[in-house]
Formats: sequence, C-alpha cells, structure tokens
Amino acid sequence: MSEPKNTEKKASNKLLWKARWAKNDEFYTQLSYIEKELGYYKDHFKDKVVFCNCDDPEESHFWKYFEMNFEHLGIKKLVSTHFEDEKPSYKLEIIGDGNHNGKVNNLDIIKTPLKQNGDFRSPECIEILQEADIVVTNPPFSLFREYVAQLFEYEKKFIIIGNLNAITYKEIFKLIKENKVWPGCTFDGRNIWFRIPDSYETYHKIENGVKYAFVAGTIWFTNLDYDKRHEDFILYKTYNESEYTKYDHYDAINVDKTKDIPMDYAGTIGVPITFLLKYNPAQFEIIDWIGRYSILDGPTEETRGKQLAQVKWKPIYKRIIIRNKKTLTPNLSLLWK
Ligand SMILES: C[S@@+](CC[C@H](N)C(=O)[O-])C[C@H]1O[C@@H](n2cnc3c(N)ncnc32)[C@H](O)[C@@H]1O
Repeated sequence: MSEPKNTEKKASNKLLWKARWAKNDEFYTQLSYIEKELGYYKDHFKDKVVFCNCDDPEESHFWKYFEMNFEHLGIKKLVSTHFEDEKPSYKLEIIGDGNHNGKVNNLDIIKTPLKQNGDFRSPECIEILQEADIVVTNPPFSLFREYVAQLFEYEKKFIIIGNLNAITYKEIFKLIKENKVWPGCTFDGRNIWFRIPDSYETYHKIENGVKYAFVAGTIWFTNLDYDKRHEDFILYKTYNESEYTKYDHYDAINVDKTKDIPMDYAGTIGVPITFLLKYNPAQFEIIDWIGRYSILDGPTEETRGKQLAQVKWKPIYKRIIIRNKKTLTPNLSLLWK
C-alpha cells in the first residue's frame, strides 16, 4: 500500500482531533490561559458563588485559579463537581477560611460525596447551579448547546470555553445577535494548547513528560461585561466598488479582513467570524451569517439551506453579515450633498 500523501495525513489528523475534542474528552485548560482571560473580570467575583461544573477539581486549573485567588477576588463560595461516567461522584467546596488559620487555601476544602454522577444536567448539580452566581469552566464541546441552554434557563452569568464554530450554531448565533452572549477578551488566532491525560496515545507535543494537544479556534464565551467590548473598532478604509465585491447570492459586500471594513458603507457587509472579537454593539448590528460547509464536516443542521458565501463563483469561508450603525444610509447622505 502506498504511503498517504501529506494532505491526506493532515486531514485525517484534523478529523481525529476534532472527534476527540467533540467527544467530551479530557482536555485540561492551562492556568496561564485562564489567568489571562479571567484577569478582565476581577470586579465581577466579589461576594459571588462561583461554580465549576465540568471539572475534576483535583486536576482542574479553574479550581486552582479560584482557590489561589479566593481572597483577592472576594469570592463568597467556590464549588466544583466532578463527572463520572457511571458511578456516584463528589463535589468540593471552599466557603472561606473554614479552619480559621487566617488564610483561605486548600486546607479549607470540604469534600462531599454526590448521590449522582456529577453530570451538569443531574438534579443534584442543577440544585448547586441554582445557588451559584457565576459559572466558569471548559464544558464538553459535544454538549455545548445544551450546556449554554441550561445556563440561560437558570439565568446564570458565565465565562466558558468553546470554539469559533459554535458561533454559527442556530441557538448560539441567536444569542449573539440579541447581545446576550459575546466572545471573551483573549483571542489572537493562535492555537490553544491543552494538557491531556498520559493514557492518550496521540498527542501534538510532550514537554517534561506531560502530553499536550492543541485545538484551533478555541475562544471564550461570556455574558459578563468588560470595557473593551464598548470601544469602537477604528476603521480607516473607504468604500470603492472595485475592491468591495458583492456576493453572488447575497446582497452584501465581501470583506476578507475585519480591519478592511469600509468606514463609509451603510449597506450590509460580510466579515470573517473573527470580527466578533472586535464587535462593539453600539458600533455594529449583526444581521445574519452565510457560508458553505467544510468538506470535513459535511452539511450540518446549521449550514443546510444557508446561502453560499461566494464571490465571482469562488466559494469562501463563513461570513457574518453586519451593518455599521454609525454610517449614514446612502439615501440620507445624498440629501446632505
Ligand atoms: C474539555 S474537558 C475540560 C476539563 C476542565 N474543565 C478543564 O478545562 O481543565 C470537559 C470535562 O467535562 C467532563 N464532562 C463530560 N461530560 C460531562 C457532563 N455531562 N457533565 C459534567 N461534566 C462532563 C469531562 O469529564 C471533562 O473533564
């Protein structure tokens, strides 16, 4: 049998990691990544009950972050539940300086068995959720829609890890459009590295005996406000018909890079989904999304029936359709002349 070509190898690797990531596998978030994002929300945690509900507290750096910063953030209570496939699990809690030794640390941890398996949907975990103010974790990606729906059902604040792909899920896009969910602060387009269990045979790198894998397009989702999302994104280009072509099947101009959005165009504009990292709801309105499915995914519930993002018969990647709220409509600007 002939050796697989490089491109075939790449595609099968991509599939393998996509499947692993989607299948609730153990991808542990690194402390540095958590610290970088959560640093933007410091004021939100004072007197709050924080719940990490998809974490093995003995492994989780989310737990570690809040345990270490309990006093600094002024947290009222920290709870984490651990998930087991088919047996009862446990929860860990810190409710301040329980042992009265003058500081909050791992000596204050209270471990209690659960009757159920720690599934975030189990009645026991829902009871804890109801008592919580802010949920922070990296939930299993295959259950992402269900996970977010539950957060909204119980009206919780949250900072969670997901993937850029989730932006075009019907339910998630609706929440983004309605300004009820937005991406977090830290995304620079680079792959995010997760620690993975030693037992995994495949990995992307090994450092000091620890295995790591990366997942492209990892981002944070939140409904906690932060200053940066209210800053206008500075635009410097102006519209001209030859540079900004319209899509073949959709009435909007195509923009390949968010920074190239023309400042004076009042109509509908298609931008890459990474635009959301620059999205200020006072500056732009989100209208729709268009796009073709990736060959690796095949058509999904979301992409079936969607308009192709195609310019001069050339298909391009998914686009979010926006309008610049701060530009005068073309008709009005004519009146001004
Ligand atoms: C992507 S890993 C993230 C682990 C941890 N939150 C972190 O970031 O280091 C997702 C975790 O969710 C757990 N999990 C899977 N299904 C779950 C469920 N139904 N309820 C709660 N946790 C679940 C998995 O065991 C896994 O540890």
